[in-house]
Amino acid sequence: MKAKSVFVCTGCGSSSVKWLGRCPECGEYGTMLEERVPANSDASKVRLSVAPPRPLPLCRVASEAEERAQTGIGELDRVLGGGLVRGSVILVGGEPGIGKSTLLLQAAHQLAEKGGRVLLVSGEESPEQVRMRASRLHALSPRLFLLCATDIEDVCEAVKEVKPYVLIVDSIQTVYNPEMSSAPGGVSQVRDCAARLQALAKESAITTFLVGHVTKDGALAGPRVLEHMVDTVLYFEGERYDSLRVLRAAKNRFGSVAEVGVFEMGDGGLREVEDPSLLFSRLRGEGIPGSVPVITMEGRRPLLVEVQALVTPSTLPVPKRVAAGLDQRRFTLDLAVLEKRAGLRFSDHDVFAGTAGGLSVAEPACDLGVCLAVASSLLDRPLPEGMAVFGEVGLAGEVRPVSQGEVRLREAGRLGFREAMLPASCEAPASPPGLRLSRVGSVKEALVTCGLEG
Ligand code: TYD
Ligand code: MG
Repeated sequence: MKAKSVFVCTGCGSSSVKWLGRCPECGEYGTMLEERVPANSDASKVRLSVAPPRPLPLCRVASEAEERAQTGIGELDRVLGGGLVRGSVILVGGEPGIGKSTLLLQAAHQLAEKGGRVLLVSGEESPEQVRMRASRLHALSPRLFLLCATDIEDVCEAVKEVKPYVLIVDSIQTVYNPEMSSAPGGVSQVRDCAARLQALAKESAITTFLVGHVTKDGALAGPRVLEHMVDTVLYFEGERYDSLRVLRAAKNRFGSVAEVGVFEMGDGGLREVEDPSLLFSRLRGEGIPGSVPVITMEGRRPLLVEVQALVTPSTLPVPKRVAAGLDQRRFTLDLAVLEKRAGLRFSDHDVFAGTAGGLSVAEPACDLGVCLAVASSLLDRPLPEGMAVFGEVGLAGEVRPVSQGEVRLREAGRLGFREAMLPASCEAPASPPGLRLSRVGSVKEALVTCGLEG
């Protein structure tokens, strides 16, 4: 077959017939890589159905009662928006070793036990390896089929033979189309195979999970077009040396992207953590300077997070400012507010801040907690015992209201806190009994209330 050479951007997937130093579409430098493709291959030629499509008044389009299959893993269903939508394509990204294969094998088993056939395609592991893991996870449903292959044709053949209602491809970077001469994992291979699988999913109403590798900086490896093609993009995150795992939706055509699922990795695989706050409240470093319990929201769920800070004298000409698990930009802003509006000085101190337990939080409602943690560490004085905090901090040093005040207060009460510090103007109609409220209008006022004046 005649093959031609094209240059494809690894960032956005756009192509050009000649090499360019800078991608004309996304503007990235050095991302155009050469790939050889057969003259007649074109992902856009993949037809979704055989019959020519006809326009119809929207109101006459048959509306399938939204029927979702439960995976049997509550935390996964929650992130998916209440279960699997038939024929949808879900991309699951995450660093190697984080537990993607484990999660999907557990889900596959449950889905197979529910009655339908499930096909698991592994391009990374041998049948023996998968079997070993499955034995350990007790995931040996007779309706769960395994195919260890990387050729997209073999995958499509197996789908025709098994007729599964759920297909899992682990990973999309390992499957390839032999008719294309470019290497597996390359932009056009990944795009072509994903397009084939997506067409198959829509045509045969097979819910398809694609596992995707991520690069060092956490983005999905391969073209960004992959994210546009699929219905749902999930990221599985966590620290490797910590057992806590968090599943987030980065995109979801069938649900909210605000929900997270929390898991703990153990000997028997992933265990759902239905009450993450309790998990974190075990970690409470109460009475330690620099440690502040903060009530954040993850989706519709309140979540207790421990914000910690360490402020130490610096010998560096430019002192360190390091935030782990927090929004770096907001952290820098909080420090500036503390200096300018509350009169604290950090110019000769290194400042480190983070969350205990490896969960990352980006919510502005953490600001007040970060400010108090940093001040508490600088002055080496702990916060009043039994106090939880939430509130956004503005550039003028004001403490701004945040949403869901009542839900957050209820959570603080449930976890046994005796006092909650919140924005003065935060709406919180009913506070739980036994919880004293400290309403503050500014960072300065918050520091005074906690006995943390400079
Ligand atoms: P895996 O699902 O293979 O990760 P990924 O597919 O994202 O690369 O998970 C690998 C890690 O999980 C590995 O370090 C071992 C650990 N693990 C457990 O701790 N308990 C278990 O029951 C299983 C199956 C794996
Ligand atoms: Mg894997």
